[in-house]
Amino acid sequence: MAAIFSIASGKGGVGKTLITTSFGILLSRQGKKVIMIDGDMGLRNMDLGLGVENECLYNIYDAAQGKCFLEEAIIPVSKNLDFLPASQNDSWDTVFPSAFDTVLEDIQNSYDFILIDCPAGLGKGIETAFSLSDHVVLVIAPSWASRRNADRLRTMVKPQISAHFVLNQFSYVNDRQIGFDDMLETVDPDLFGGVLPYSEAVNQLSHFGHMTELDNDCAFSKALAYILRSILEDKEFPVTRWKSLVCQGDKENEKILNGLPLRKSHYGLTWNSGSKVYRRRRR
Ligand SMILES: Nc1ncnc2c1ncn2[C@@H]1O[C@H](COP(=O)(O)OP(=O)(O)OP(=O)(O)O)[C@@H](O)[C@H]1O
Ligand SMILES: [Mg+2]
Repeated sequence: MAAIFSIASGKGGVGKTLITTSFGILLSRQGKKVIMIDGDMGLRNMDLGLGVENECLYNIYDAAQGKCFLEEAIIPVSKNLDFLPASQNDSWDTVFPSAFDTVLEDIQNSYDFILIDCPAGLGKGIETAFSLSDHVVLVIAPSWASRRNADRLRTMVKPQISAHFVLNQFSYVNDRQIGFDDMLETVDPDLFGGVLPYSEAVNQLSHFGHMTELDNDCAFSKALAYILRSILEDKEFPVTRWKSLVCQGDKENEKILNGLPLRKSHYGLTWNSGSKVYRRRRR
């Protein structure tokens, strides 16, 4: 039976989708069979970072309603890694939680991990995902608003379910945002899952739909691997290790900003009025 993860935050734009995608890529490279589900019904965008937006013919709600076979909605991304898109036209106001539940039941024996990218805010989508999950990851960006929103979501996680705060987009260079040390002081050590540095390289991969090219050796990926161990193996790492990963991330960013060639190929999006979705012009 697959272990089910929900990646949530309350606040929007903090990195839920990027983290879900990266967890999926990392776990699949470790030989685990993984499916990532876009739970952001009506505002899906996980397909873009993965570069599979042109392949999203059906979605999880179509499969739940019997409009297609589940296999038709599931998109193979890379070895051991599958993706199930959210509906673009239905929102959580119109999607039945039981439909989501049914699909998860159907796929649970085919994977080691099911990762649900939750929508921002509170509501039916979050409640449904949390009720099905074994692990909840609450993402905190370097802002007090994000910290408070994640705390609010924490109250919605049942005590028997594992919950961890993951700090994301931290940097020692950017002094206009809350620093890692200040944020860490506010987090209960038992709930601290780890910190991910802000990464220019990863941000680019996500913007251009090349997330599957994520470099295993960059600070972001190393931190991600430690986070998975701290959640799955309940392992604690010294604070110095996390700090050095944030510093390494800063150094990598500096190299990029100082002229390391940026990815040139930029494929724009166009609105497809027939299927009411954005598609890449060419890939
Ligand atoms: N650690 C990071 N380093 C660099 N860029 C990041 C990092 N985390 C997130 N980003 C960037 O921040 C932006 C928002 O990330 P993402 O879409 O994953 O947030 P989200 O929480 O899923 O947003 P929403 O609430 O809208 O679903 C993206 O451009 C992403 O590439
Ligand atoms: Mg998102």
